[in-house]
Amino acid sequence: MTLMPENPPPSGKVRLPPGKSLVLIGLMGAGKSSVGRRVAKILNLPFVDADEEVERAAGCSVEDIFRLYGEDAFRDGEERVIARLLEAGPQVLATGGGAFMNPRTREHIRKAGVSAWLRADLDLLVRRTSRRGGRPLLAHGNPRETLERLIEERYPIYAEADIVIDTTDENIELMVDRLVAALANLGNAAEVAS
Ligand code: S3P
Repeated sequence: MTLMPENPPPSGKVRLPPGKSLVLIGLMGAGKSSVGRRVAKILNLPFVDADEEVERAAGCSVEDIFRLYGEDAFRDGEERVIARLLEAGPQVLATGGGAFMNPRTREHIRKAGVSAWLRADLDLLVRRTSRRGGRPLLAHGNPRETLERLIEERYPIYAEADIVIDTTDENIELMVDRLVAALANLGNAAEVAS
């Protein structure tokens, strides 16, 4: 007997509609950058990390932007940078966890292409975020409680994404396969022969 994966990857090449981008959303630790980098290769598009672009524009780290100028200043910069990036043409864009909570950013994303939410449960996020610092929202207090609160606040909004991919394990390649399969199934993505 041959076991088929839950969402088998499509046989042909998947591409986005002309001129459109793929925007990854999800909480800190969901794997947006790791998955995004790999999917960008498959889609033959540039990969862009919104936080890195905010850092480039500000000339300092996200941590320092929060510390020196405050969260509101970071959110303003994040909104402007994402709007500019999405105007630049097709790409795979990994956004910071708070970006999709901004209604204007959601609108930009909706117009620019396909949004995909990497949905992860609390335990996975706690595990993954404990491995890397540099996340000001988790720098104070109990990270588990903060992530739990963010899940409550954000998941109802993240649910507006075009695609939802469950991150139930540590296997990035499986996530990539699921996302590619979901793109192929999406009405506005075209599967073409290689
Ligand atoms: C944030 C997530 C971070 C970064 C900033 C705020 C958030 O990005 O944008 O620390 O509000 O969830 P990642 O989701 O890439 O860690």
